[in-house]
Amino acid sequence: MSLISLFINAGLSAGGAVVCYRLILDYIPIFIARKMYGNDQCKVSNAPVPEPMGVICAAVYLIVMFMFIPVPFFEWIGMESTEFPYAKLLAILSGLISISTAILLGFADDMLDLRWRHKLLFPTLSSLPLLMVYYVSGNSTTVIVPSIVRHLIHPIAVLPITINISFIYYIFMGMVIVFCTNAINILAGVNGLESGQSLVISASVSLFNFVQIYRFGTENTTGFWHHIISLYFLLPFTACTAVLFYFNKYPSRVFVGDTFCYWSGMTLAVVSILGHFSKTLMLFFIPQTINFVYSIPQLFHLVPCPRHRLPKYDPKSDTVSMSIAEFKKSELKLLGSIFISICRSIGMLYVKEFEKDGEIYLRINNLTIINLVLKFGGPMHEKTLNDVLMTIQILSSCLAFFIRFYLASLFYDVVE
Ligand code: UD1
Ligand code: MG
Repeated sequence: MSLISLFINAGLSAGGAVVCYRLILDYIPIFIARKMYGNDQCKVSNAPVPEPMGVICAAVYLIVMFMFIPVPFFEWIGMESTEFPYAKLLAILSGLISISTAILLGFADDMLDLRWRHKLLFPTLSSLPLLMVYYVSGNSTTVIVPSIVRHLIHPIAVLPITINISFIYYIFMGMVIVFCTNAINILAGVNGLESGQSLVISASVSLFNFVQIYRFGTENTTGFWHHIISLYFLLPFTACTAVLFYFNKYPSRVFVGDTFCYWSGMTLAVVSILGHFSKTLMLFFIPQTINFVYSIPQLFHLVPCPRHRLPKYDPKSDTVSMSIAEFKKSELKLLGSIFISICRSIGMLYVKEFEKDGEIYLRINNLTIINLVLKFGGPMHEKTLNDVLMTIQILSSCLAFFIRFYLASLFYDVVE
């Protein structure tokens, strides 16, 4: 039955993609007329580009999901004798609440340019419905101790040792949600990057789910259901995102906006929690995690952070190069200067010191992996830059599969 529902879900997703395509074409002039657009900062024309087009795809996604809700439960509808699987329905509904609130937050950010503390607080709160349902459904919070550690603790133990980390697991899941909702938005600013990275991650996570369904083999295991429910959310998302990418890739005809970035991050976090693979999801977010860690000094204002960190456009050569933050050395916090010295010594930062009006100034590249690629690769065309970043994303998906299925089997006796 779950597999039939999955086919219906795939059919609805394809329908959703067609509707997205039509609606985006219809809404491009409406967005421009309503002055809902951004300026492409890496083009000569600086032309207005409709933004946030992610809201159209998110609306179609929600409609597809709402239409799909009864499908997995057809066999119970009208049957009074058998017990209805409320926990499964609840899981779908709680996932949709968290996704809807992320879309709301994103749209508010596009309209109002929210502050950082709101962007962190709101997803934390919107994770609560999902975590609450996770709790009442009696889902596991145990982790398996790697076999090497097990042999150190208990040399003759044969069975795997598990530890119930209880509330720490909930804190971890809450952090996954907050991280994912923001991670895609701070790796942005190049045509096709926000939608492209989301497409690669969602396609990879879908593939991971299909592999797991194949490995479980039978519908009667809970693991099978976890990966099925994950796909229920992911297939419509992947379909809508593929259409959005078509319009957002170089040269962008639409911008996705923060609405898309938060929707995308939250959807991926939700599927990993409902699918019980939040640790594995982090493997698919390796570039975003590196970008986040590298960004920390600017995000927490240890180093001055300009409003935009996207690459700098050179109209003469039609290329982009790393963008620069310039500030007085005296403005730098202690942790900021430690970070700069470390990154400089390992060649991970462009730093130039100069004197102006008797003050020492510093010029550093803005702290994103986009600028890091440009530091090592030199100025390049915007499309080439996005292709490089997409290749990195695809390679890190390959690495994720390698770690999840090969390396994990070296450290654990059973890899589910
Ligand atoms: C985040 C980044 C910011 C980056 C911006 C680009 C952090 C803390 N913030 O801010 O550094 O500059 O995203 O999206 O890392 N744009 C383009 N070309 C594109 C995509 C966007 O020129 O391919 C420009 C357009 O002017 C568009 C604007 O970026 O209107 C969107 O920026 P917005 O999403 O509001 O920025 P933030 O998410 O706040
Ligand atoms: Mg943004």
